[in-house]
Amino acid sequence: MAASVGVCRLRFRGFGVLDRFCLGFEPQTQKRFTSTTPAIKVQTESKTTKAAKESRTFQAIQEERREQAERSVLISCPPKFNENKFLDYLSKHGTINKHFFYNTYGAYAVVEFSSRESIASLKESTNIPAVEHEAAVPFKSRLLSLKWPGSQSSNHPMPKFQNQSPPSINEITQLLSEKDSIDEQLQCLAEALQLTEENISLRFLVCSLLQDIAGAYFPECIIRPFGSTVNSFGKLGCDVDMILDLNGIYATSQKKGSGLSLEYQVKRGASERAVTQSILSVIGKCVDQFGPGCVGVQNILQARCPLVRFAHQPSGFQCDLTANNRVAMKSSELLFLYGHLDPRVRHLVFSVRCWARAHSITSSIPGAWITNFSLTVMVVFFLQQRNPPILPTLDRLKELAGPSDKCVIEGNDCTIVSDLSKITLQRNTDTSEKLLQEFFEFYGNFPFNKASINIRKGKEQTKPETTALYIQNPFETTLNVSKNVNATQLERFVALCRESAWLLHQKEILNRSSVSPWGFAALLLPSVTSGAGVKSRRKKKLEPASSRIKNLLDSLKIKGGETVAKKGSANSSR
Ligand code: GTP
Ligand code: MG
Repeated sequence: MAASVGVCRLRFRGFGVLDRFCLGFEPQTQKRFTSTTPAIKVQTESKTTKAAKESRTFQAIQEERREQAERSVLISCPPKFNENKFLDYLSKHGTINKHFFYNTYGAYAVVEFSSRESIASLKESTNIPAVEHEAAVPFKSRLLSLKWPGSQSSNHPMPKFQNQSPPSINEITQLLSEKDSIDEQLQCLAEALQLTEENISLRFLVCSLLQDIAGAYFPECIIRPFGSTVNSFGKLGCDVDMILDLNGIYATSQKKGSGLSLEYQVKRGASERAVTQSILSVIGKCVDQFGPGCVGVQNILQARCPLVRFAHQPSGFQCDLTANNRVAMKSSELLFLYGHLDPRVRHLVFSVRCWARAHSITSSIPGAWITNFSLTVMVVFFLQQRNPPILPTLDRLKELAGPSDKCVIEGNDCTIVSDLSKITLQRNTDTSEKLLQEFFEFYGNFPFNKASINIRKGKEQTKPETTALYIQNPFETTLNVSKNVNATQLERFVALCRESAWLLHQKEILNRSSVSPWGFAALLLPSVTSGAGVKSRRKKKLEPASSRIKNLLDSLKIKGGETVAKKGSANSSR
């Protein structure tokens, strides 16, 4: 079987990913950043510094990125410009730590100075533009435009632009066809789709620019990214989920002495939700009216988690701003932790998410679909079920927590260990290929009708309600994160899992070919099962095999005489 052959191909690349998430720029990128002007600091890191950074916690990493973003500006550049002159000009305001260029609606530069004073100095020399026939809102943000007098000679080499978009499905297929094994394909897929260091910096910068707007009302507020921007499973092009964090304000007001004291007079709202809605509605309006580059602002305040949605044009990001959503940040930390314990976790999550998107199991439109968050929790649960387990349970992460990790949010105990080095993993040598195959078999035969997925216990639990799919919310344990999923969507998921499990058992799929998709790439082709509801683009080519596949799928489906898909429908009608 292919999976057993794969054992000897198991190749971990150490914690390269952890380096990327913790350390900032990769070696070659660092080099690029150091080459231009004498004012740009040389970025070399000793092994000790590197090791020290590797052991940092999720919070420490986020804080460092946030602080870097506060020392950064985003500059729209003309179509042609001289990079050295540009950097020389900016260096007059202080030392530049890092910079990079990218192209969305035009060329942009992200420039990080080594001190905040540089930003103040730069702002002092920046003008409010005189606009013809209209009037400018005089809001001095850190989104600037570079004006270059006269025409630019075309002899100057253009700077290198960093890619901010994910590869297309065709590019992915091409990339995967060049690999030698499914394991290599899964690793390559994660590397091709994951957020780049530059993209993460840009995401933090956009949050920081938004914070400047919200700060007009709440100077101590912090806008933090959460979700896939920080949880280590972000794919290029994914949205930026943001939290307006007002906890700093409440924290400073908790000081109580025994003598006289003062209190702020405050307006009161009917509930915390009402206050959140009112704050978000005002900030949404400000973003709409005063936020440079922010377009299509929608206040979605009646949602379970009220939010302001908008597009940030200069970065090309779709942004969701929420408030009072600390549990979601804790969930991001939890996924980050799981994503860093073993490289196979990210390989599997990226491949399952990519597979689900290719088959329209997930969607960017809200609805009865399984979400990426739910899928990730399903992968974690599956990895907790291996023998020996690849990932620890959430209860174990709580047991390992130190006193400073204690965290209770709205009555929910969200404590987890923050120091990764305290977690001891058991030795499990399964290849990513084997895990992918068994993931499909596991969920192709999971008793969704009666069992719920519970990563806190790492065990199936009896389903407390009749929704088609029940995945216990890791921290708000009375909630189901997949309540939205209906029986039809669950059936499609199960049918596709079975089909993919079956395909991975076929020898032909393992035949490395440079002309047709093989290995994981073959799983991205449209489904041949009628239940999956997707018409095959390559129908003609696959036709001869389809009846064989159906028969085999049927044989795989039967466990205890009833298909899981049928069980799902029965369950939904209860
Ligand atoms: P993308 O699809 O790449 O954006 O993944 P994502 O993980 O960012 O998901 P999404 O933008 O839908 O949600 C952002 C974050 O909100 C997630 O990472 C979770 O932390 C949290 N979240 C999303 N859905 C749920 C849910 O149903 N329950 C809970 N508790 N948290 C959720
Ligand atoms: Mg998201």
